[in-house]
Amino acid sequence: MTDDGFVVWFTGLPGAGKTTIASIIQATLRGRGAKVELLDGDEVRTWLSPNEGFSREDRERHLRRVAHVCELLSRNGIIVLASFVSPYRSSRDYARSTIGNFVEVYVKCSLETCMRRDPKGLYKKASAGKIGNMTGMQDPYEEPTSPEVVIETETSTPEDSARVVLTRLAVLGRLR
Ligand SMILES: Nc1ncnc2c1ncn2[C@@H]1O[C@H](COP(=O)(O)OP(=O)(O)OP(=O)(O)O)[C@@H](O)[C@H]1O
Ligand SMILES: [Mg+2]
Repeated sequence: MTDDGFVVWFTGLPGAGKTTIASIIQATLRGRGAKVELLDGDEVRTWLSPNEGFSREDRERHLRRVAHVCELLSRNGIIVLASFVSPYRSSRDYARSTIGNFVEVYVKCSLETCMRRDPKGLYKKASAGKIGNMTGMQDPYEEPTSPEVVIETETSTPEDSARVVLTRLAVLGRLR
């Protein structure tokens, strides 16, 4: 473990597995005695951006705030796991340039599988017209062009996915 904080930013479609994988990594790193904070989509939204919705502008405004929180924590030696759909490249690029110690993990999964998993029932609601701006349906998801890690959650288990990320962090010199 180095003493420097850094940010692992998980991006991907709703239901791709970001929270599932980030939670395993959090438990593993805490078990090794690291200071880790998981900033997770919906929970963070309620206190950081209670008045924002899901338009492109609102998502970008929210994620700019998230990026600054990540920067403050990581600057103080904390490993930050940031789990956000973050569908626009511009938001992720903003985070990357604001944070510096930034590792982008693309949690990749087909829309079909995400819709089948539908852990929060959001795809069902969007299909029924009960919510709008659903990423993958009404709204776009812009795939990362050069993420540090790509995880294919259709072909690997959550535990294997977490191991792949941890190994990559070690190779990148972020973890001992
Ligand atoms: N290999 C895998 N990796 C991660 N999750 C998987 C995998 N295989 C199946 N799953 C399941 O897929 C679902 C992923 O849900 P999760 O809440 O982690 O997605 P998410 O990307 O955080 O979505 P959201 O953006 O809506 O928060 C869980 O029910 C999980 O058990
Ligand atoms: Mg999640």
